[in-house]
Amino acid sequence: MTDAVTVTDLVVHRGRREVLHGLTFAVPPGQVTGLLGPSGSGKTTLMRALVGVQRVRAGEVTVLGEPAGSPGLRSRVGYVTQAPSVYPDLTVRENARHFAALYGRTARDADAALADVGLAGAGGQLVGDLSGGQRGRASLACALVGRPEVLVLDEPTVGLDPVLRVELWARFADLAAAGTTLLVSSHVMDEAARCDRLLLLRDGELLADSTPDRLRAESGTADLDEAFLRVVRAREEVAA
Ligand SMILES: Nc1ncnc2c1ncn2[C@@H]1O[C@H](COP(=O)(O)OP(=O)(O)OP(=O)(O)O)[C@@H](O)[C@H]1O
Ligand SMILES: [Mg+2]
Repeated sequence: MTDAVTVTDLVVHRGRREVLHGLTFAVPPGQVTGLLGPSGSGKTTLMRALVGVQRVRAGEVTVLGEPAGSPGLRSRVGYVTQAPSVYPDLTVRENARHFAALYGRTARDADAALADVGLAGAGGQLVGDLSGGQRGRASLACALVGRPEVLVLDEPTVGLDPVLRVELWARFADLAAAGTTLLVSSHVMDEAARCDRLLLLRDGELLADSTPDRLRAESGTADLDEAFLRVVRAREEVAA
C-alpha cells in the first residue's frame, strides 16, 4: 500500500530560525503513528506543514498523493490544533452539528462523534463553560465528525484524566483499524507504547522512525522513556 504521508528533506524556518532541519519519513496508512518529542522540538510545526498551513523553506510534503494543503485534501484531512478550536458561544452539540454540516454529514453523525469523545451528556452545554479537557474533546469531536482519511492530532490528550486518555487511545486504534491514518503528537512516553509506529523528534531532527517494539529491542530497555534517552545519547556520541 502506498504511504498516506511522505515528507522529503523538509526544512522549515520560524521567525529567524530554522526549526525543522531536513526531515524525511513516511506515514503508513491505517495506523497510529506517534510524533514524540520534548516541548519545542517541532511537533506542531511539522503538523502544520502536513496540513498545509506552514510555509515551507525546502523539501516536499505529500498527503494522500497530493501536495500538502491542496484544495482536494480539505475534507480528507482532519486537523485538531493544540489549542481547541471550537466556538465558545455555541453549545457542544451546535458545534458538532456545525462541523457536520460543513463536511456534508448528518446530525446523527455529530451525536456519534460526541459519544466517541465522551461528551454525549454535555451536548447542551456552552463550550465556553467547559473545562479545558472537555473543550479539547469537543474540538476533537468536530474533527472526527467529518470522518477524514487522515487525522492529525496535536497533543489531544493533554489535561485529560487517565481513564479518558485510555478511552481515547482505544478510539484511535479503532479508527486506524477501520482504515484511518492517524498522526498523534505527545510528549508523554507512556502514550508512545500505544502507537503502531513512532517518530522521535528532537530539536527539529528525526532521531528515530521506528515501532515501540523495535525501539525497545534496539536500545535494550523495555522502558520507552529510557529508550528515548538512549537514542538521544547515542546521537550525541555520534555528533561528538
Ligand atoms: N510563531 C513562531 N515564531 C517563531 N518561532 C516559533 C513560532 N512558533 C514556534 N516557534 C519555534 O519553533 C520551534 C518548534 O516549535 P513547535 O511549536 O513546533 O514545538 P512543539 O514540539 O510543538 O512544542 P510543544 O510540545 O511545546 O507544543 C520552537 O523552538 C519554537 O520556539
Ligand atoms: Mg506543539
